[in-house]
Amino acid sequence: MNIKICISLLIAVAGLSAHADKVESLLAQMTLEEKIGQLTLLSSKWEITGPVAGKSYVDEVRSGQCGNIFNVPKAEYVRQLQKTAVEETRLGIPLLFGYDVIHGYKTIFPIPLGLASSWDMDAVERSARIAAVEAAASGITWTFAPMVDIARDPRWGRIAEGTGEDTYLSCEVAKANVRGFQGNDLSDPFTVAACMKHFAAYGAAQAGRDYHTVDMSERMLRDTYLPPFKAALDAGCVSVMTSFNEFNGVPASGNPFLLKTILRDEWKFDGVVVTDYNSINEMIAHGSAADQADAAVQALAAGVDMDMMSSAYLKQLKRLLAEGRVTIEQIDRSVRNVLRLKEKLGLFDNPYRYCDEQRERNLHCAAPHLKASREIAGKSMVLLKNEKNLLPMKTGKRIAVIGPLAKAQKDLLGTWCARGDKEMVTSVLDALIQVNGSNRVEFSEGCGVTNNDITGFAGAVAVARKSDLVVMVLGETAGMSGEAASRTSINLPGVQTELLREIKKTGKPIVLVLLNGRPLALEQEAGMADAILEAWHPGTEGGKAAADVLFGKINPSGKLPVTFPRNLGQVPIHYNMKNTGRPLAPAADKPKFQSRYIDSPNDPLYPFGFGLSYTDFQYSEITLSKSEIKPDETLTASVTVSNTGKIDGEEVVQMYIRDLVGSVTRPVKELKGFNKIFLKAGESQTVTFSIGEKELTFLRRDMTWGVEPGYFDLFIGTNSRDVQSSSFSIH
Ligand code: GLC
Repeated sequence: MNIKICISLLIAVAGLSAHADKVESLLAQMTLEEKIGQLTLLSSKWEITGPVAGKSYVDEVRSGQCGNIFNVPKAEYVRQLQKTAVEETRLGIPLLFGYDVIHGYKTIFPIPLGLASSWDMDAVERSARIAAVEAAASGITWTFAPMVDIARDPRWGRIAEGTGEDTYLSCEVAKANVRGFQGNDLSDPFTVAACMKHFAAYGAAQAGRDYHTVDMSERMLRDTYLPPFKAALDAGCVSVMTSFNEFNGVPASGNPFLLKTILRDEWKFDGVVVTDYNSINEMIAHGSAADQADAAVQALAAGVDMDMMSSAYLKQLKRLLAEGRVTIEQIDRSVRNVLRLKEKLGLFDNPYRYCDEQRERNLHCAAPHLKASREIAGKSMVLLKNEKNLLPMKTGKRIAVIGPLAKAQKDLLGTWCARGDKEMVTSVLDALIQVNGSNRVEFSEGCGVTNNDITGFAGAVAVARKSDLVVMVLGETAGMSGEAASRTSINLPGVQTELLREIKKTGKPIVLVLLNGRPLALEQEAGMADAILEAWHPGTEGGKAAADVLFGKINPSGKLPVTFPRNLGQVPIHYNMKNTGRPLAPAADKPKFQSRYIDSPNDPLYPFGFGLSYTDFQYSEITLSKSEIKPDETLTASVTVSNTGKIDGEEVVQMYIRDLVGSVTRPVKELKGFNKIFLKAGESQTVTFSIGEKELTFLRRDMTWGVEPGYFDLFIGTNSRDVQSSSFSIH
């Protein structure tokens, strides 16, 4: 090894040990009270994101009782509080400043379910990068993101905040988010620490009701819900947030199986574990702790380092230590993890490196950020229907814009919209007017989002009659998804469907633009609208992006990251379910004794991975490099994709496998690769996937990971249903 490498290694090791020494020397000086303060995270008074309201806490910062704070919304306030911590406390330990930077800070991007719909990892990473740059300028050092909860129940409001139903796609998005937020150097003042959440299996809340019980097999947990966390951790994520739910009878914030066995022992995670809001106290309501002291003992023993907003550590640890119910080793372990994070962020070198009012003014909603938001929103939109190529629309036609979300601004920002400014948002209506001219666009609201008032129907019908085509903007408000926003229906709320039905009677062509935070049951709407664009809650520039798509400036390329059921009765429904012992025979006509419903088809309205384009993509047969491999060998599968239409466009080529026989039953399909390609009109490209141990390993019956010999089906296509197929075997 040459001398240069040796020297750089020595410097690196010296650097690490210097950081470790700093933490150890600080720890050695700290009083018990100062240590407990570092394990306490409190919310400022500026924003409330949970059931216990925050306040200024400047006294608690000055006394050292509060070593970390969140929901402080601007650099000026961060600087004030940091100054108090650094200059008015005995050891001057800087504060961590946390915030929910979920899909943008000031420039808001599509909700995460929309970002996932882009299947474009560069776009996801770019959105997180910009979010980090804007948040860090305001003094934020720690975002409570990415949320990596697999979600398969559209009743659950937080399905908006994640990446949908599939483990593989969620892993890829989780990695892209961590790369974007953390960059390569956490001490870089344009990066923030990431926090993967909510550990674990929060998205499996029974009946889609937020905070509800989660009870599942360890196999399901390890197979489906844990991999996105492991992917984020492998990408370098430095903190984890525990979830509100119990897991198999033990609340996550006091669950040693999750926090110690899996996170620390198996995954060797050495970062910070923070609870969700007040969730240590909530162990009492769960019924797993008799009182706050009991809850604190369980949380610390399980491995929780930092207590968000329950003050259980602050109020109980000193007495618990004196009583011998906790140990100083447990406390020091957690303080060490917190101090190490502050060290990695460079806060000891310069506690004010992240709050820069000048940068804040220059970078928030900077033109390049808004441009990126518009481009990424355009990539996130999914074309679900386009009869007779009604879209893209041509300018110059008389357009009626109808619906309760046509003028919406705040709702386009979606749930968890951080410091997003609704005044910056151009509504879909205004964006259409900007393109088509105010003399050729007429608006009528028609109805509200949730009320049952139909008095606006007649006016809307009259406006529709005068038009060449109607653009209906329907869906959910931002507050109808996100935390504590579960619904017992996934239909369009209020009388929006009835309004669509009245407009349909006019015989005018109808484009339905959906602004929503969850999959909706659209069987009726799909039968009435001639074209449907799923726009999600698309962010600051989403109205303009919708107009870009509707007028063809952008050829839509989004694909659903979550199944759209025909009706709620089918839920849970996802593409990678098991075959059962009595699968529904595809061509069966009113079969008995098969796994089906007597009142609905089994298949969804729109399957996972589905999304149309303004052009056509044709797939060749699959070519395999070989059809038989050994367990440690790899084969390649290739298809040639051709853009046979007249418009350039992007296509997400998806690769799925099915293990036909295993020591445990396997899903009928599993996404194991995808590649988003751009093809000019008339162009073709061969796309090749490699299939080997990584793609074929699964959790076998004995709960070990590995590859089993046998026969496999292979699918490559434009979604999880419309595929070319082939097969191979492992011997
Ligand atoms: C909320 C959410 C969590 C968020 C935290 C801080 O209750 O569950 O995702 O990061 O509190 O706002």
